[in-house]
Amino acid sequence: MRILGIETSCDETAAALIHVKGGHFSIEKNIIFSQIDIHHATGGVVPEVAARNHVTTIIPVLQEAVEKNIPNVIAVTAGPGLVTSLLVGVETARTLSYLWKKPLVAVNHIEGHIYANWLEGQQSSGFLSASWRIGMTRSIFPTVVLIVSGGHTELVLMKDHGVYELLGKTRDDAAGEAFDKIAKILGLDYPGGPAIAQAAKKCTHNGSHTDTICLPRPMMDTQNFEFSFSGLKTAVLYLFRDMKKNKKYVPCIATEFQQAVCDVLIAKTVRAAEKYRAHTVLLGGGVAANVSLRTQLKQALARHTPSTLSHCPEPIFCTDNAAMIAIAGYFHAKKRDYTDWKKSEVRAQWEVYE
Ligand code: KG4
Ligand code: ZN
Repeated sequence: MRILGIETSCDETAAALIHVKGGHFSIEKNIIFSQIDIHHATGGVVPEVAARNHVTTIIPVLQEAVEKNIPNVIAVTAGPGLVTSLLVGVETARTLSYLWKKPLVAVNHIEGHIYANWLEGQQSSGFLSASWRIGMTRSIFPTVVLIVSGGHTELVLMKDHGVYELLGKTRDDAAGEAFDKIAKILGLDYPGGPAIAQAAKKCTHNGSHTDTICLPRPMMDTQNFEFSFSGLKTAVLYLFRDMKKNKKYVPCIATEFQQAVCDVLIAKTVRAAEKYRAHTVLLGGGVAANVSLRTQLKQALARHTPSTLSHCPEPIFCTDNAAMIAIAGYFHAKKRDYTDWKKSEVRAQWEVYE
Protein backbone atom coordinates (compact mmCIF):
# COMPACT_ATOMS: atom_id res chain seq x y z
CA MET A 1 0.00 0.00 0.00
CA ARG A 2 1.32 3.42 -0.95
CA ILE A 3 0.16 6.33 1.23
CA LEU A 4 0.44 10.00 0.36
CA GLY A 5 0.63 12.26 3.43
CA ILE A 6 -0.23 15.96 3.23
CA GLU A 7 0.52 18.43 6.05
CA THR A 8 -0.33 22.17 6.06
CA SER A 9 -1.52 22.79 9.64
CA CYS A 10 0.87 25.65 10.42
CA ASP A 11 3.88 26.98 8.50
CA GLU A 12 5.27 23.88 6.77
CA THR A 13 3.89 22.79 3.41
CA ALA A 14 4.72 19.09 3.31
CA ALA A 15 3.96 15.98 1.29
CA ALA A 16 5.38 12.48 1.72
CA LEU A 17 5.00 9.12 0.06
CA ILE A 18 5.31 5.97 2.12
CA HIS A 19 5.17 2.41 0.89
CA VAL A 20 4.06 -0.37 3.25
CA LYS A 21 4.20 -4.04 2.35
CA GLY A 22 4.09 -7.04 4.63
CA GLY A 23 4.78 -5.00 7.75
CA HIS A 24 7.77 -3.37 6.09
CA PHE A 25 7.73 0.33 5.28
CA SER A 26 9.88 2.64 3.21
CA ILE A 27 9.80 6.40 2.99
CA GLU A 28 9.92 7.06 -0.73
CA LYS A 29 9.60 10.84 -0.53
CA ASN A 30 9.56 13.34 2.31
CA ILE A 31 9.22 16.89 0.95
CA ILE A 32 9.02 19.81 3.38
CA PHE A 33 8.80 23.43 2.33
CA SER A 34 9.36 25.46 5.47
CA GLN A 35 8.10 29.04 5.67
CA ILE A 36 10.51 29.88 8.51
CA ASP A 37 12.39 32.44 6.39
CA ILE A 38 9.10 34.14 5.51
CA HIS A 39 7.99 34.37 9.17
CA HIS A 40 11.43 35.44 10.39
CA ALA A 41 10.64 39.11 9.81
CA THR A 42 7.51 39.03 11.98
CA GLY A 43 9.06 36.79 14.67
CA GLY A 44 6.11 34.41 14.41
CA VAL A 45 3.51 32.95 12.08
CA VAL A 46 0.95 35.34 10.57
CA PRO A 47 -1.95 32.99 9.64
CA GLU A 48 -2.97 34.91 6.50
CA VAL A 49 0.61 34.89 5.19
CA ALA A 50 1.04 31.20 6.02
CA ALA A 51 -2.15 30.23 4.17
CA ARG A 52 -1.25 32.20 1.05
CA ASN A 53 2.14 30.53 0.94
CA HIS A 54 0.56 27.08 1.28
CA VAL A 55 -1.62 27.91 -1.75
CA THR A 56 1.37 28.72 -3.94
CA THR A 57 3.57 25.88 -2.67
CA ILE A 58 1.26 22.89 -2.30
CA ILE A 59 1.22 21.87 -5.99
CA PRO A 60 5.02 21.93 -6.56
CA VAL A 61 5.53 20.09 -3.24
CA LEU A 62 2.96 17.44 -4.28
CA GLN A 63 4.46 17.09 -7.75
CA GLU A 64 7.85 16.38 -6.21
CA ALA A 65 6.42 13.86 -3.76
CA VAL A 66 4.14 11.96 -6.13
CA GLU A 67 5.90 12.11 -9.53
CA LYS A 68 4.19 9.23 -11.36
CA ASN A 69 3.32 7.15 -8.28
CA ILE A 70 -0.41 7.46 -7.73
CA PRO A 71 -0.99 6.44 -4.08
CA ASN A 72 -3.57 3.92 -2.86
CA VAL A 73 -4.60 6.14 0.05
CA ILE A 74 -4.44 9.90 0.75
CA ALA A 75 -3.86 10.98 4.37
CA VAL A 76 -4.23 14.64 5.27
CA THR A 77 -3.96 16.66 8.47
CA ALA A 78 -7.52 17.84 9.21
CA GLY A 79 -6.67 19.50 12.55
CA PRO A 80 -5.74 20.90 14.98
CA GLY A 81 -4.05 23.97 13.54
CA LEU A 82 -4.66 27.25 11.75
CA VAL A 83 -8.00 27.06 9.91
CA THR A 84 -6.87 28.80 6.74
CA SER A 85 -3.66 26.74 6.55
CA LEU A 86 -5.51 23.46 7.17
CA LEU A 87 -8.05 24.33 4.47
CA VAL A 88 -5.35 24.32 1.78
CA GLY A 89 -4.24 20.77 2.59
CA VAL A 90 -7.73 19.39 3.14
CA GLU A 91 -9.21 20.88 -0.04
CA THR A 92 -6.25 19.62 -2.07
CA ALA A 93 -6.60 16.14 -0.58
CA ARG A 94 -10.36 16.08 -1.26
CA THR A 95 -9.78 17.06 -4.88
CA LEU A 96 -7.14 14.34 -5.33
CA SER A 97 -9.40 11.76 -3.65
CA TYR A 98 -12.19 12.62 -6.10
CA LEU A 99 -9.93 12.69 -9.18
CA TRP A 100 -7.91 9.56 -8.41
CA LYS A 101 -10.87 7.74 -6.82
CA LYS A 102 -8.67 6.88 -3.82
CA PRO A 103 -9.83 6.77 -0.20
CA LEU A 104 -9.12 9.65 2.13
CA VAL A 105 -7.98 9.51 5.77
CA ALA A 106 -8.40 12.58 8.01
CA VAL A 107 -5.42 12.52 10.38
CA ASN A 108 -5.11 14.37 13.67
CA HIS A 109 -1.85 16.35 13.63
CA ILE A 110 -0.97 15.31 17.19
CA GLU A 111 -1.55 11.67 16.30
CA GLY A 112 0.92 12.26 13.47
CA HIS A 113 3.50 13.47 16.02
CA ILE A 114 2.91 10.27 18.02
CA TYR A 115 3.31 8.01 14.97
CA ALA A 116 6.55 9.79 14.03
CA ASN A 117 7.97 7.28 16.54
CA TRP A 118 7.26 4.51 14.03
CA LEU A 119 9.51 6.12 11.43
CA GLU A 120 13.24 5.78 11.10
CA GLY A 121 15.80 7.67 9.00
CA GLN A 122 14.74 9.88 6.14
CA GLN A 123 14.50 7.96 2.83
CA SER A 124 15.03 4.82 4.88
CA SER A 125 13.00 1.76 5.56
CA GLY A 126 12.30 -0.63 8.38
CA PHE A 127 9.90 -3.09 9.91
CA LEU A 128 6.77 -1.47 11.25
CA SER A 129 6.36 -4.07 13.93
CA ALA A 130 9.99 -4.07 15.07
CA SER A 131 11.99 -0.88 14.43
CA TRP A 132 12.14 0.93 17.77
CA ARG A 133 10.54 -1.94 19.65
CA ILE A 134 13.48 -4.25 19.07
CA GLY A 135 14.06 -6.26 22.19
CA MET A 136 10.50 -5.89 23.42
CA THR A 137 8.80 -9.19 23.98
CA ARG A 138 5.61 -7.70 25.41
CA SER A 139 3.04 -5.24 24.09
CA ILE A 140 4.17 -1.64 23.74
CA PHE A 141 0.91 -0.59 25.39
CA PRO A 142 0.15 1.04 27.76
CA THR A 143 2.27 3.89 26.45
CA VAL A 144 2.67 7.30 28.01
CA VAL A 145 3.16 9.95 25.33
CA LEU A 146 4.62 13.38 26.04
CA ILE A 147 3.52 15.78 23.30
CA VAL A 148 5.52 18.99 23.21
CA SER A 149 4.94 21.23 20.19
CA GLY A 150 4.34 24.88 19.39
CA GLY A 151 0.64 24.65 20.22
CA HIS A 152 0.38 21.62 22.52
CA THR A 153 1.90 20.31 25.72
CA GLU A 154 0.13 17.26 27.03
CA LEU A 155 0.60 13.85 28.56
CA VAL A 156 -1.54 11.24 26.87
CA LEU A 157 -2.07 7.61 27.79
CA MET A 158 -2.13 5.48 24.63
CA LYS A 159 -3.89 2.20 25.42
CA ASP A 160 -3.81 0.79 21.89
CA HIS A 161 -3.49 2.05 18.32
CA GLY A 162 -5.83 5.02 18.10
CA VAL A 163 -7.03 4.78 21.73
CA TYR A 164 -6.02 7.82 23.77
CA GLU A 165 -6.82 9.27 27.19
CA LEU A 166 -5.73 12.72 28.31
CA LEU A 167 -3.71 12.67 31.54
CA GLY A 168 -3.07 16.40 31.67
CA LYS A 169 -2.13 19.39 29.56
CA THR A 170 -0.88 22.94 29.85
CA ARG A 171 -3.15 25.51 31.46
CA ASP A 172 -1.65 28.30 29.37
CA ASP A 173 1.36 28.38 27.01
CA ALA A 174 2.67 25.28 25.26
CA ALA A 175 6.35 24.40 25.81
CA GLY A 176 7.29 25.37 22.22
CA GLU A 177 5.38 28.62 22.58
CA ALA A 178 7.41 29.38 25.74
CA PHE A 179 10.65 28.72 23.83
CA ASP A 180 9.48 31.05 21.03
CA LYS A 181 8.34 33.86 23.35
CA ILE A 182 11.42 33.72 25.57
CA ALA A 183 13.71 33.73 22.53
CA LYS A 184 11.97 36.95 21.49
CA ILE A 185 12.53 38.49 24.95
CA LEU A 186 16.22 37.54 24.78
CA GLY A 187 16.59 38.95 21.26
CA LEU A 188 17.12 35.51 19.69
CA ASP A 189 15.84 34.20 16.35
CA TYR A 190 12.52 32.59 15.38
CA PRO A 191 11.78 29.71 15.91
CA GLY A 192 12.92 30.04 19.50
CA GLY A 193 13.53 26.37 20.33
CA PRO A 194 16.63 25.80 18.20
CA ALA A 195 17.82 29.38 18.91
CA ILE A 196 17.66 28.87 22.70
CA ALA A 197 19.31 25.44 22.49
CA GLN A 198 22.10 27.00 20.43
CA ALA A 199 22.55 29.98 22.81
CA ALA A 200 22.61 27.61 25.81
CA LYS A 201 25.65 25.85 24.36
CA LYS A 202 27.64 29.06 24.89
CA CYS A 203 27.06 29.04 28.65
CA THR A 204 30.28 27.94 30.31
CA HIS A 205 29.12 28.01 33.93
CA ASN A 206 27.94 24.43 34.04
CA GLY A 207 25.07 25.27 36.40
CA SER A 208 27.19 27.30 38.85
CA HIS A 209 25.40 30.58 38.06
CA THR A 210 22.15 29.37 39.56
CA ASP A 211 22.39 31.75 42.55
CA THR A 212 21.95 34.74 40.28
CA ILE A 213 20.06 33.13 37.42
CA CYS A 214 17.42 30.96 38.98
CA LEU A 215 14.03 30.36 37.40
CA PRO A 216 10.96 28.62 38.86
CA ARG A 217 9.89 25.05 37.95
CA PRO A 218 6.13 25.75 37.59
CA MET A 219 3.80 23.04 38.89
CA MET A 220 6.64 20.51 39.12
CA ASP A 221 5.51 19.17 42.46
CA THR A 222 1.74 19.21 41.96
CA GLN A 223 0.22 15.73 42.02
CA ASN A 224 -1.46 16.06 38.62
CA PHE A 225 -0.27 16.00 35.04
CA GLU A 226 -0.96 19.63 34.25
CA PHE A 227 1.62 22.19 33.17
CA SER A 228 1.98 25.96 33.15
CA PHE A 229 4.68 27.86 31.30
CA SER A 230 3.41 31.45 31.12
CA GLY A 231 4.94 32.31 34.54
CA LEU A 232 8.38 31.35 33.23
CA LYS A 233 8.01 33.91 30.48
CA THR A 234 7.28 36.65 33.03
CA ALA A 235 10.17 35.47 35.23
CA VAL A 236 12.60 35.71 32.30
CA LEU A 237 11.23 39.12 31.33
CA TYR A 238 11.94 40.57 34.83
CA LEU A 239 15.26 38.78 35.23
CA PHE A 240 16.61 40.07 31.91
CA ARG A 241 15.28 43.56 32.66
CA ASP A 242 17.07 43.53 36.05
CA MET A 243 20.25 42.53 34.22
CA LYS A 244 19.88 45.66 32.05
CA LYS A 245 19.27 43.35 29.07
CA ASN A 246 23.00 42.70 28.90
CA LYS A 247 23.58 40.19 26.10
CA LYS A 248 26.38 38.48 28.00
CA TYR A 249 23.74 36.85 30.25
CA VAL A 250 21.71 35.40 27.36
CA PRO A 251 23.52 31.99 27.22
CA CYS A 252 23.09 31.48 30.99
CA ILE A 253 19.42 32.49 30.98
CA ALA A 254 18.85 30.23 27.95
CA THR A 255 20.47 27.30 29.81
CA GLU A 256 18.46 27.87 32.97
CA PHE A 257 15.19 28.27 31.05
CA GLN A 258 15.79 25.13 28.99
CA GLN A 259 16.62 23.21 32.18
CA ALA A 260 13.51 24.51 33.95
CA VAL A 261 11.29 23.27 31.10
CA CYS A 262 13.11 19.91 30.99
CA ASP A 263 12.84 19.44 34.77
CA VAL A 264 9.07 19.96 34.77
CA LEU A 265 8.36 17.87 31.67
CA ILE A 266 10.58 15.01 32.83
CA ALA A 267 9.30 14.93 36.44
CA LYS A 268 5.68 14.62 35.27
CA THR A 269 6.41 12.11 32.51
CA VAL A 270 8.31 9.83 34.89
CA ARG A 271 5.47 10.08 37.42
CA ALA A 272 2.91 9.21 34.73
CA ALA A 273 5.01 6.25 33.54
CA GLU A 274 5.17 4.94 37.12
CA LYS A 275 1.50 5.52 37.89
CA TYR A 276 0.21 3.86 34.72
CA ARG A 277 2.90 1.15 34.67
CA ALA A 278 3.78 2.18 31.13
CA HIS A 279 5.57 -0.37 29.00
CA THR A 280 6.84 2.48 26.79
CA VAL A 281 7.21 6.25 26.87
CA LEU A 282 7.13 8.12 23.57
CA LEU A 283 8.06 11.72 22.85
CA GLY A 284 6.56 13.79 20.04
CA GLY A 285 6.34 17.34 18.65
CA GLY A 286 8.88 20.01 17.70
CA VAL A 287 10.32 20.43 21.22
CA ALA A 288 11.16 16.70 21.19
CA ALA A 289 14.04 17.71 18.90
CA ASN A 290 15.67 19.31 21.94
CA VAL A 291 18.79 17.31 22.80
CA SER A 292 18.70 18.12 26.54
CA LEU A 293 15.09 16.94 26.80
CA ARG A 294 15.74 13.74 24.82
CA THR A 295 18.83 12.68 26.74
CA GLN A 296 17.66 13.70 30.21
CA LEU A 297 14.25 12.02 29.78
CA LYS A 298 15.92 8.76 28.74
CA GLN A 299 18.28 8.93 31.74
CA ALA A 300 15.49 9.74 34.21
CA LEU A 301 13.30 6.88 32.96
CA ALA A 302 16.20 4.45 33.12
CA ARG A 303 16.79 5.53 36.73
CA HIS A 304 13.19 5.54 38.00
CA THR A 305 11.38 2.97 35.89
CA PRO A 306 14.01 0.80 34.18
CA SER A 307 11.52 -1.66 32.69
CA THR A 308 9.94 1.14 30.63
CA LEU A 309 11.34 1.45 27.12
CA SER A 310 11.55 5.04 25.88
CA HIS A 311 11.76 6.35 22.36
CA CYS A 312 12.01 9.72 20.56
CA PRO A 313 11.53 10.22 16.84
CA GLU A 314 14.57 11.31 14.85
CA PRO A 315 14.83 15.14 14.99
CA ILE A 316 13.73 15.48 11.33
CA PHE A 317 10.45 13.75 12.26
CA CYS A 318 9.89 15.76 15.48
CA THR A 319 9.09 19.03 13.73
CA ASP A 320 6.18 19.17 11.29
CA ASN A 321 6.41 16.82 8.32
CA ALA A 322 4.07 14.74 6.16
CA ALA A 323 5.76 11.34 6.63
CA MET A 324 4.28 11.21 10.15
CA ILE A 325 0.82 11.97 8.68
CA ALA A 326 1.24 9.20 6.09
CA ILE A 327 2.27 6.60 8.69
CA ALA A 328 -0.59 7.58 11.02
CA GLY A 329 -2.85 7.37 7.95
CA TYR A 330 -1.59 3.85 7.30
CA PHE A 331 -2.81 2.63 10.72
CA HIS A 332 -6.26 4.09 9.98
CA ALA A 333 -6.31 2.66 6.45
CA LYS A 334 -5.56 -0.78 7.90
CA LYS A 335 -8.89 -0.51 9.73
CA ARG A 336 -10.55 1.05 6.64
CA ASP A 337 -11.17 4.13 8.75
CA TYR A 338 -11.78 6.43 5.79
CA THR A 339 -13.55 9.77 5.39
CA ASP A 340 -15.79 10.42 2.40
CA TRP A 341 -14.26 13.31 0.45
CA LYS A 342 -17.71 14.89 0.23
CA LYS A 343 -17.93 15.06 4.02
CA SER A 344 -14.34 15.73 5.03
CA GLU A 345 -13.75 19.03 6.76
CA VAL A 346 -11.22 21.03 8.76
CA ARG A 347 -11.33 20.56 12.55
CA ALA A 348 -9.17 23.36 13.93
CA GLN A 349 -9.72 22.41 17.60
CA TRP A 350 -9.62 18.61 17.20
CA GLU A 351 -8.13 16.91 20.28
CA VAL A 352 -6.44 13.55 19.76
CA TYR A 353 -8.13 12.07 22.85
CA GLU A 354 -11.70 13.07 21.85
O1 KG4 B 1 5.58 20.35 16.15
P1 KG4 B 1 6.06 21.64 15.62
O2 KG4 B 1 7.01 21.62 14.45
O3 KG4 B 1 4.84 22.53 15.19
C1 KG4 B 1 3.63 22.49 15.90
O4 KG4 B 1 2.86 21.54 15.69
O5 KG4 B 1 3.45 23.41 16.74
O6 KG4 B 1 6.71 22.43 16.83
C2 KG4 B 1 7.25 23.69 16.67
C3 KG4 B 1 7.84 24.13 18.00
C4 KG4 B 1 8.33 25.57 17.99
O7 KG4 B 1 7.78 26.23 19.09
C5 KG4 B 1 9.83 25.44 18.08
O8 KG4 B 1 10.44 26.52 18.78
C6 KG4 B 1 9.99 24.14 18.84
O9 KG4 B 1 8.98 23.31 18.32
N1 KG4 B 1 11.31 23.52 18.62
C7 KG4 B 1 12.20 23.30 19.61
C8 KG4 B 1 13.36 22.75 18.99
N2 KG4 B 1 13.11 22.64 17.65
C9 KG4 B 1 11.85 23.11 17.45
N3 KG4 B 1 12.14 23.54 20.93
C10 KG4 B 1 13.21 23.24 21.69
N4 KG4 B 1 14.36 22.73 21.18
C11 KG4 B 1 14.48 22.47 19.85
N5 KG4 B 1 15.61 21.96 19.36
ZN1 ZN C 1 3.36 19.88 14.93
